[in-house]
Amino acid sequence: MKILVVGGAGYVGSHVALVLQEAGFEAVVFDNLSTGHLWAVQFGSLIQGDIEDIEALRQAMVEVEPQAVIHLASLINVRDSIRNPQVFYENISATLNLLKVMVETGVKQIVFSSSAAVYGEPQYLPIDERHPKAPMNPYAKTKFAIEGMLEDFANAYGIRYVALRYFNACGADPQLRVGEAHTPETHLIPLAIRVAMGQQPILQVYGNHYDTPDGMAVRDYVHVLDLAYAHVKALKYLCAQSQSIQVNLGTGRGYSVQEIVQAVSHFACSPIPTTVLPQFSMDSPALVADASLAKNILDWSPQYSSLETIIATAWNWHQKYSTISTAL
Ligand SMILES: NC(=O)c1ccc[n+]([C@@H]2O[C@H](COP(=O)([O-])OP(=O)(O)OC[C@H]3O[C@@H](n4cnc5c(N)ncnc54)[C@H](O)[C@@H]3O)[C@@H](O)[C@H]2O)c1
Repeated sequence: MKILVVGGAGYVGSHVALVLQEAGFEAVVFDNLSTGHLWAVQFGSLIQGDIEDIEALRQAMVEVEPQAVIHLASLINVRDSIRNPQVFYENISATLNLLKVMVETGVKQIVFSSSAAVYGEPQYLPIDERHPKAPMNPYAKTKFAIEGMLEDFANAYGIRYVALRYFNACGADPQLRVGEAHTPETHLIPLAIRVAMGQQPILQVYGNHYDTPDGMAVRDYVHVLDLAYAHVKALKYLCAQSQSIQVNLGTGRGYSVQEIVQAVSHFACSPIPTTVLPQFSMDSPALVADASLAKNILDWSPQYSSLETIIATAWNWHQKYSTISTAL
């Protein structure tokens, strides 16, 4: 069964392609390589193209005839989205292209990479899918808008979807075939690792006056391989069920920035000098998932998301990547 993996050369997408291959699917990656990498396309073929180019997308869809689409392509840097929202809103028009071409070519199933950011400031924790949605920045608003678009396309054209609301993706393939390689990197664990490895002098974190136990932002860290397996479960769900769903993917356990820094420092046996920058106003103080729907409906539960496994796999990947990246 062929799956078009849009954005499959990126961090999450490359792990999705890995587990698709493992599960017997044929992954065809469609990616413009804007933030993804050629070396990350190891578990399927690549069509290099941009989803803003509807003709290229149409051609790919006709050529591949996928059973389903997994849509991970997006700009992801939240702070950039505040500075330059116009390019982020193209995430919406690009997704509209994708949905239009799916309708034209009769492809009915899509798994979409949404985000916990759609919830905004928590009214209660852990956050279930019924929690009010109040996205706080342009990135999160585009995710929520796309979820709405999916719902309308489902009602009007019979598209069926699973919107996976990832909490914080982290870690790497334990066999180190693929891993996280964002430039610039904005995610806490790889940044802390770089400081612990001596590649950067100091870790910058944002805000220590949040309404949380230690004043620092709290997030739910879920291993990228666990996220990837959820896509396979979502495809199986779409084959068997007619109802579209939005599902949280997290562990139910939150860690503050401070706790993560301490855990990386402990793992590395190395201090991590840290400086606290002013709080980032368009960001939620705490996002922790109630993932019982994923467990009940998709039969998904995280297997790799202990903090030890996350940090160990991320550490090993960064060690490997820092030695090979100059040659790539
Ligand atoms: N990483 C996280 O913690 C996290 C959390 C929540 C949601 N998400 C979502 O998961 C998805 C994947 O995130 P990631 O961390 O792997 O990001 P990434 O930047 O590593 O991967 C995105 C991929 O999409 C490709 N792409 C971007 N725009 C494109 C376009 N117009 N046409 C074709 N390809 C395009 C990029 O080249 C890249 O390969 C994104 O939609 C992101 O919003 C990620």
